[in-house]
Amino acid sequence: MKFNGIDFDTYFKNYPDKNGFFGPYGGAFVDEGLLKAMQEINDAYFTICKSRKFIDELRRIRKEFQGRPTPITHLERLSNQIGTGVQLYAKREDLNHTGAHKLNHCMGEALLAKYMGKKKLIAETGAGQHGVAIATAAAYFGLECDVYMGTVDIKKQAPNVARMKILGANVVEVTHGLATLKEAVDAAFDAYAKDYQNSIYCIGSVVGPHPFPMMVRDFQSVVGIEAREQFKEMTGELPDSIVACVGGGSNSAGFFAGFLNDPVDIYGIEPLGRGTKMGDHAASLQYGTEGVMHGFNSIMLKDENGEPAPVYSVASGLDYPSSGPEHAFLRDLGRVKYDVINDEETIDAFFRLSRMEGIIPAIESSHAVAYGIKLAEKMGKGSVLICLSGRGDKDMDYIIENYGIR
Ligand SMILES: Cc1ncc(COP(=O)(O)O)c(C=O)c1O
Repeated sequence: MKFNGIDFDTYFKNYPDKNGFFGPYGGAFVDEGLLKAMQEINDAYFTICKSRKFIDELRRIRKEFQGRPTPITHLERLSNQIGTGVQLYAKREDLNHTGAHKLNHCMGEALLAKYMGKKKLIAETGAGQHGVAIATAAAYFGLECDVYMGTVDIKKQAPNVARMKILGANVVEVTHGLATLKEAVDAAFDAYAKDYQNSIYCIGSVVGPHPFPMMVRDFQSVVGIEAREQFKEMTGELPDSIVACVGGGSNSAGFFAGFLNDPVDIYGIEPLGRGTKMGDHAASLQYGTEGVMHGFNSIMLKDENGEPAPVYSVASGLDYPSSGPEHAFLRDLGRVKYDVINDEETIDAFFRLSRMEGIIPAIESSHAVAYGIKLAEKMGKGSVLICLSGRGDKDMDYIIENYGIR
């Protein structure tokens, strides 16, 4: 399928290019030491990860340890309640082991670390889902694990902090700046730069220097590939629209990858938080401008000095001032439409899905659910497939304390 001059039949061969660029976005803007480390990971990715042995081992892990494939659920009661005739479906990454999509790329990255002879996994985390996933992967492969996490998120996501510790990871508190996800990424990068011979940085999303945006997308593409096949088997056709939330952009990049070459409308949803004022949201693709952060060029929210702006979202996993370079590229192409959902709409969707379907979604995923509901209200007919990126157990205390039971 051709779209705006880009041939999506050959898209994955051409993007990113060999230097890690999706059009103008991406690359590896790091110093020479780290550039060497990135080159080592890139070379290992193209040799080890493409080998039959690696692919077979990862496939077995996904089936026997992660519980893949995760199902698609028809959200029948919710669709009936909306009443327009549009049918909503959910791809259930909440049923992936550890309760979110994050384990898909963590097991891939940790398996690569094992093949490369690395002893330690270093990562950052916001909502704690990536931290739990990397701690799980480290325990599975018998590797050391340091997870960097901001003070604010440590308080907000206490159950996930406990899980990481039980799994044997070392949770390193990051106290500077806003003490949330961006600062955690800064700290994890610094630690990795000092120890890259012994360790591998397992970034939590499709961000950071090349090859991470490509590698994480490729590991996450299992979500989209499975979903496409399952949806066709279930309904005999493709969905009319698909929706996923976008923080750094990993669940969406993997989910979208299965449908980019199809006549399917694709929506990426960013957090509008408390509103459009700078500092009240984290909708970088909506309100940001081009810039370099954490070693990659993309669209980002900047303050008056051109530095990454303070951001906010009710979802700890979405409050990042940029998004992966591929999203910026797909936005410019018009292949994916990026839109926003605010905190209130998110909390409504959290309770509505819980009550109507018996599925408690993560606050991050609730952004996609809210948009799916909006689409169903607008569309006269058809189907919407939502990526339910994770489960909401980690969020329940926070929601009850701040919003009560609705
Ligand atoms: C359940 C869940 N969904 C979505 C996200 C956002 O990350 P990404 O945009 O990389 O998928 C997170 C991040 O922690 C998460 O925990």
